[in-house]
Amino acid sequence: MRRTTLIRAARQSELGDLARLEVQAGQLFHTVGMSEIADHAVDRQALRRSQRQGLIWVAEEGDRTVGYVIAAVLDGNAHIEQVSVAPTHARRGIGRRLIAHVERWGRRQGRPATTLTTFRDVPWNGPYYRRLGYRELPNAEIGRELTVTMRHEAALPGMDSSLRCAMIRFNGGVL
Ligand SMILES: CC(C)(COP(=O)(O)OP(=O)(O)OC[C@H]1O[C@@H](n2cnc3c(N)ncnc32)[C@H](O)[C@@H]1OP(=O)(O)O)[C@@H](O)C(=O)NCCC(=O)NCCS
Repeated sequence: MRRTTLIRAARQSELGDLARLEVQAGQLFHTVGMSEIADHAVDRQALRRSQRQGLIWVAEEGDRTVGYVIAAVLDGNAHIEQVSVAPTHARRGIGRRLIAHVERWGRRQGRPATTLTTFRDVPWNGPYYRRLGYRELPNAEIGRELTVTMRHEAALPGMDSSLRCAMIRFNGGVL
């Protein structure tokens, strides 16, 4: 039987669980030889800050948190900072629902688009987002705040910025 997945705001008391979930989800990067990315340390202060601002939503099935997404606003657009789904619940549309949730949140605020940064060729990154309607942003179209974010990410351990890209999906009119 398929369980109902609920999406709701994250609570402060579960941030430790979310950090653990991000590490579990990230293990997928070992399969493409990106071990430093797989084992990167979660920035718990940033997690706390985003939760306080109401920018984290979790996917819950029964009493289990099976995924979460962190949003931001960059250059006036909704931005997906991080999305993670527990390996036990992968490829069941939970990531897509979390991403759609941020897109809807942005649309309600009148944001023209949703952006994200990702690895261009890792199957569950660039190609996945392309399937969800995102396209790569040419350098000349990357806004100031998104540029700062990409510079910050480029400095993280194991990050090869030549493999990274920024992507965008413009909002339609429908809420
Ligand atoms: C990216 C992620 C959130 C997707 O979550 P999900 O719930 O499995 O995704 P969905 O069910 O919405 O979509 C599944 C699609 O994602 C891609 N995908 C997911 N896992 C994959 C894998 N192990 N290998 C190849 N493609 C994969 C495929 O396109 C897949 O479609 P398919 O099953 O028809 O082939 C999840 O893979 C994850 O947590 N990855 C590690 C963290 C990460 O890279 N986050 C994104 C960058 S911030």
